[in-house]
Amino acid sequence: MISPASIQRLKDTVRIEDTVGLFLDLKRKGQDFWACCPFHGEKTPSFSVSPSRGIYKCFGCQRAGDSISFVMEHENLNYVESIRYLAEKFQIPLEEIHLENAEQIKEEQSIKAALYIVNDFANKYFQENLTQSSEGDIALRYFYERGLRLETIKAFELGYCLDTFEAFTQAAIKAKYNPEHLMTLGLTKETNGKKWDFFKGRIMFPIHHISGKVAGFGGRTINNNSQAAKYFNSPESPVYQKSAILYGLYQAKKSIAQLDECILVEGYLDVISMYQAGLTNVVANSGTALSIDQIKLIGRFTQNFILLYDSDAAGVKASLRSLDLILEQQYNVKIVHLPSGHDPDSFAKVHDYEFVKDYIHRNAQDIVTYKANLYAKSTLEDPLKRAEMANDIIYSITKVNDIIKRAAYIQQCSEITGIDEKTISSQVAKILTRRYQELKKGVKSSYVDTLEPIVPKTIDTQNSFQTFVKKTEEHLLRLLINKGIERYGEADNPFFQTLIAQFVIEEIKDYAFDFPAHQLIFNEILHHFHQHLIYPPEFYINHVDPIISEFAIKNSEIVQEPLMSWKNSKFNIKAPKFGANHTKEADDCVRNINVVQVRRLQMKILEMSQGEASKENAQVILAMQDAFIEERDKQRINDDLIFLK
Ligand code: CTP
Ligand code: MN
Repeated sequence: MISPASIQRLKDTVRIEDTVGLFLDLKRKGQDFWACCPFHGEKTPSFSVSPSRGIYKCFGCQRAGDSISFVMEHENLNYVESIRYLAEKFQIPLEEIHLENAEQIKEEQSIKAALYIVNDFANKYFQENLTQSSEGDIALRYFYERGLRLETIKAFELGYCLDTFEAFTQAAIKAKYNPEHLMTLGLTKETNGKKWDFFKGRIMFPIHHISGKVAGFGGRTINNNSQAAKYFNSPESPVYQKSAILYGLYQAKKSIAQLDECILVEGYLDVISMYQAGLTNVVANSGTALSIDQIKLIGRFTQNFILLYDSDAAGVKASLRSLDLILEQQYNVKIVHLPSGHDPDSFAKVHDYEFVKDYIHRNAQDIVTYKANLYAKSTLEDPLKRAEMANDIIYSITKVNDIIKRAAYIQQCSEITGIDEKTISSQVAKILTRRYQELKKGVKSSYVDTLEPIVPKTIDTQNSFQTFVKKTEEHLLRLLINKGIERYGEADNPFFQTLIAQFVIEEIKDYAFDFPAHQLIFNEILHHFHQHLIYPPEFYINHVDPIISEFAIKNSEIVQEPLMSWKNSKFNIKAPKFGANHTKEADDCVRNINVVQVRRLQMKILEMSQGEASKENAQVILAMQDAFIEERDKQRINDDLIFLK
C-alpha cells in the first residue's frame, strides 16, 4: 500500500501539463495548453490543460480529470499503477506502508481531518470576536487605523482573540472539541493543570492551505508597549508544516496564474495591504526562509517570481538565498527593493495601484544586474575584486539550465565586468562539470550500462579492438559536439567553406556505432544537422536526455585530460591531439572510423570463412575480400592488420 502522504505529495508535485506532455504535443495559449484530444478522433484541438487548476478537459468528448486519471485512461492502468507510473517518471519517492500500519495511517488521516475542523471553529470564533464583541471593536479599530477596509478584513478572514485567560478554550470544549487537539494546534496551552488561550489579546491571521482549509494562525499584539514578541505563530502540527505553506496563496493563486507572475513579500500585512491596493498576486513566507517546497507550490501557477524584500542587510541576504533557490528550480526571478524605510505594506498605503505596479516593474532587477549592483563602483577598477564579483555572478548563472537564458546572462555578465564571454562561458562549464563529477562520485549512474558494447567478444584481439572502437567513437562525437561549427581546412584551401560537422558527417554517415549510447548521441546531432542546425556544446551539456548530457559534460573541452593518450601501432593509429588543429583532428577521426569499418569487414569475412556454410559462401567471401583489400589500400592501413589470404 502506498502511504496517503506520498500520494498527496505526488499530486502536489506533478504538474498536469508535464503529465499530459509525456504523451501529447501541447501548445500554449494564454494560461492554458491545448492539443488534439487523445481519447476521441479530432483534427482541431479541443483538449485543454489548465496548470492552475491541475486538470485537463476535452470540450469535444467531455472527458476531464487530473494527472492520475489521465494516465489511467491513456495508459489503461488502474489507480495504483498510475501513481507508480507517475512516481517513476517524475522521480517522486513513494513511501510504502505495510498492512499492519494501515490502521495507524487511517487514524492519522482522521486526526488530521479533526484538526482542520478545530482550526475552522477557531477561525470562525476569532472572526466573530472581531465584529461582534465590544473588546473586538478595539482590534477592529486597529485594523482601520492601519488602513484596512472591512472587505479586505473579510477576504483574509482576520479575527481577534479576546484578552481573557480561557474564553476561547472554554468555548471550544463546550462545543465538544477535543482538548488534546486544541493543544496539538497550539491554540491552547496548559500551565499547572490550567488551560489558557495562547493567542489572547492578539489580532488573528489565519494561514490557509492552498485548498482553503485553515492550517494555522499568526497572532499580532495590538499593544505597542507589550514586552512579548510582536507575532505569535501556531507551532508545526500534522496540518501545519511551515515550509510547505505560503501566506496568502489561497487568496492569490488565481491572480498569480492570470498575471503569470508572483510577488513574494515577507509579512502578513505586506500581503494584505498590497492586495487591498489591487496587487492581488502577492504571497509571504512569513518570517521563515523560503523553501523549495514553497517555490514549487508557486511554480504550479507561474514561472515568474518577483522578490519584494526590504533593502536592509537582512533583506538582501534573504534575497540572495531565495534567488539561487528559485533559479535552481529553473524559474525566472527578479528582485525589487523598495526605497529605504518602506516595506510593501507602507509603500502600498502611500501610493496607488498604478504607481506601485510601475515601481515594481521598473525596478525589477535580474540576478546579474542585482548582484553586480551589490558591489561598489570601484570594484571594476581592481582586477582581483572584479574577478571575485564575476565569480559571484557566474555562480548564480550556473543554476540556470536553459541555454538561451544562460547565454543571455553570460553576455550581460561580460558587458558588466568587461571579461570576455568565452572566459565566462568556460568558467560556467567548469563549475557545471565539477558539480557533475561530484554528483557522480559514489552514485552509480543508472545508464552506465547502456554505454557497454553490444558486440560479442569472439576474436582474440576483440578486447583491444573494442577499446579502439570506443575511443574512436568517443573522439568523433566529442569533436562534433565541441567543434562542429569550426571551419574545415586552411584559409587558402577551397574546402575552407566547409564546416567540421559537414565534413565529418558526410564522410561517416553510413557508419554504425558499436555503442548504443554513441549512436543515440550521433542521431541527435544528425537530426539537427539535417535541419541546418549545429548547436554549441552547451546545448548538449544541458540536454534533457541524461545519456547525451552526461557524455557532453564528460567530454566538454575545458576539463578534458587528453582522451587520446593512447597509441596502437598495430592499427597504425595516430592519437589525434584534441583542440590543436580541428582539420587535422577531423581527418584523423574519419580515418579511424574507416579503420574500424575495414576491420569489421575483415572480421565478417573471417567469421564467414570459418562457418559451416563457408563453401556455399565462397563467392561472397571472395567479393568481400576484394572490397576489403581495396578499402584497406585506400585507407593505407598497416599490413599486419591483415591475416587473411
Ligand atoms: N514574524 C514573526 N514573528 C516575529 C516577527 C515577525 O513570525 N516576532 C513574521 C511575521 O509573519 C511577519 C513577518 O515575519 O509578518 C515580517 O515581519 P515584520 O516585517 O516585522 O512584520 P510585519 O508583517 O511588517 O508586521 P507589522 O507591519 O505589523 O509590524
Ligand atoms: Mn510592516
